[in-house]
Amino acid sequence: MVKICCIGAGYVGGPTMAVIALKCPDIEVVVVDISKPRIEAWNSDTLPIYEPGLDDVVKQCRGKNLFFSTDVEKHVAEADIIFVSVNTPTKTRGLGAGKAADLTYWESAARMIADVSKSDKIVVEKSTVPVKTAEAIEKILTHNSKGINYQILSNPEFLAEGTAIEDLFKPDRVLIGGRETPEGRKAVQALKDVYAHWVPEDRILTTNLWSAELSKLAANAFLAQRISSVNAISALCEATGANVSEVAYAVGKDTRIGPKFLNASVGFGGSCFQKDILNLVYICDRRAPRP
Ligand SMILES: NC(=O)c1ccc[n+]([C@@H]2O[C@H](COP(=O)([O-])OP(=O)(O)OC[C@H]3O[C@@H](n4cnc5c(N)ncnc54)[C@H](O)[C@@H]3O)[C@@H](O)[C@H]2O)c1
Repeated sequence: MVKICCIGAGYVGGPTMAVIALKCPDIEVVVVDISKPRIEAWNSDTLPIYEPGLDDVVKQCRGKNLFFSTDVEKHVAEADIIFVSVNTPTKTRGLGAGKAADLTYWESAARMIADVSKSDKIVVEKSTVPVKTAEAIEKILTHNSKGINYQILSNPEFLAEGTAIEDLFKPDRVLIGGRETPEGRKAVQALKDVYAHWVPEDRILTTNLWSAELSKLAANAFLAQRISSVNAISALCEATGANVSEVAYAVGKDTRIGPKFLNASVGFGGSCFQKDILNLVYICDRRAPRP
């Protein structure tokens, strides 16, 4: 039986792993976290987060092939595939403060994986990370690898809070990036086989590592741009007597533009937009500075 362990029982780790467990009864899934109250909540009748449909999914598989535990090291050591879904907030100090992603939690998870592993592992970046993070993680994992082979994959999560279960059941796409080597391709296929239990083949996209890492930040930037644009138009509507809903509807009818994500509002929400865009701007300035 394939064993999956997910480090981080948060908004992404919990629902994503619950859906994998539901759709893949032949796979054992353990979600681990250093937060005892979070794990206790996942094991109770009052889950730590609310998402329509989540209770039902967890009830169907918890205790069968879905487990929540604080015994992080044991389950990491036993797993074949390790998802890392820890938080990656904006840095508050040091180089890049206020813009760059803080990878402290990710790096400490990687060091722990390197310490406790005794067999080959596929390590999956589920957290949203800057492009090229896999290179740094690879260095941590292989620094003292004791002959263990690690394959790092990027598998960013595109779910939206509020529709997480629906998004996971019917994703627009699942993106898997890996090394373009025979071992890398084998690892990509292993993760593809997991999603193929319920996601149609043509919706599982495989790319190189860097494309997958960058696509998540780029997608959020494109979404934010639409909202920023409609908000700017909204101010002009107020000044001129135009109706922003009518304008957005008319604009969205153009098939090149499409109707979604064109609702004017006071700003843009989603827990990740602002931090991801700050991060993308920071990376652009560092790696592809404008003349
Ligand atoms: N929330 C969303 O809608 C969303 C959507 C897509 C992507 N993401 C990205 O996914 C990642 C996770 O987001 P989230 O909202 O699930 O975060 P979260 O804060 O809800 O959960 C992260 C969990 O990781 C745990 N953790 C941190 N370090 C750990 C360690 N070393 N060992 C074990 N557990 C550890 C924390 O205790 C916490 O419970 C972030 O990179 C985020 O940007 C979030």
